[in-house]
Amino acid sequence: MKEIVVSGIRPTGHLHLGNYFGAMRNYVRMQEEYNCYFFVADWHSLTTHPDTSELRDSVLGVLAENIAAGLDPEKVALYAQSALPEIAELYLYLNMLAYKGELEKTTTFKDKVRQNPDNVNAGLLTYPVLMAADILIHRAAYVPVGKDQEQHLEMARNFAQRFNYRYTELFPEPQAFNFGSDLVKVPSLDGTGKMSKSENQLATLYLVDSDEMIRKKVMKAKTDAGPTEPNSTMPDYIQNLFMLMELVSDRGTVEKFRNDFNGASIRYGDLKKALAEDMVRFIAPIREKAAAIYADKDYLRRVLSNGAEKAHESARKTIEETRRLVGLRYF
Ligand code: TRP
Repeated sequence: MKEIVVSGIRPTGHLHLGNYFGAMRNYVRMQEEYNCYFFVADWHSLTTHPDTSELRDSVLGVLAENIAAGLDPEKVALYAQSALPEIAELYLYLNMLAYKGELEKTTTFKDKVRQNPDNVNAGLLTYPVLMAADILIHRAAYVPVGKDQEQHLEMARNFAQRFNYRYTELFPEPQAFNFGSDLVKVPSLDGTGKMSKSENQLATLYLVDSDEMIRKKVMKAKTDAGPTEPNSTMPDYIQNLFMLMELVSDRGTVEKFRNDFNGASIRYGDLKKALAEDMVRFIAPIREKAAAIYADKDYLRRVLSNGAEKAHESARKTIEETRRLVGLRYF
């Protein structure tokens, strides 16, 4: 039996190069070795985005991009969270085991309250409980998430433990998971930090960026006048450009520019031009694939409905067990 992996994908925003070389690569490897349930967290998005006029497009868009980036709907169950009412039922039981105090202390909750003091709803407060239900509904062993989700995962383990203690062992305690050393940090183009959705948009390359946009962003990347003597130390924003180059360019190109740098003869304009073209070559096929998938609404509907069916089977088993253990079977 393959071990079970669950992960939720937020339906807001486009995938960028950081997602691709970080999370996506993990997902794609996991789908070969684990029994994976990956879903679009549409209920979660209601906690912060009550206006749903664009929700459908975002859900289908994020799905198309994830498939284009390598998720295979034949190998993983891909579904919308809202297709599994069992999650909502489990959320209800877990809510009785979650304390108001611990929910109020959650970092993401405090951040959201600060950002949006006019919409502090109970769904926002119990976000970690819903996330625990997403995971526990399939009795997952592993959850591929980044650092920012570790606290939520710890809470999921606590809720699982409390349930097990109160009603009998049912849920494994889910652990964070990634293929460790392979996790690549993709630096942003302005020389500060990683590529991310929320920071400087011009410093992040999205998988949906047009060729012109990619070129424009790369050409704007921070450089300087270049080294004045051979074998100078490389400033970190130049190191970043080399890191990006190593992701998408062939060895020969990287070598050439490294030698130019060490020989103090490098022309950053040429480096950026080469990098821009290799980025275009890398991103364009993914972008086009995502667009084709997004345009094929019948295909996306089939993916979602097959994924829901598969996920349903697993969710139904868990919820039946849960009801039995809680003591809610009357006939
Ligand atoms: N909270 C996660 C995020 O913000 C998304 C998510 C929801 C999730 N439910 C999940 C991730 C269950 C892993 C497992 O990215």
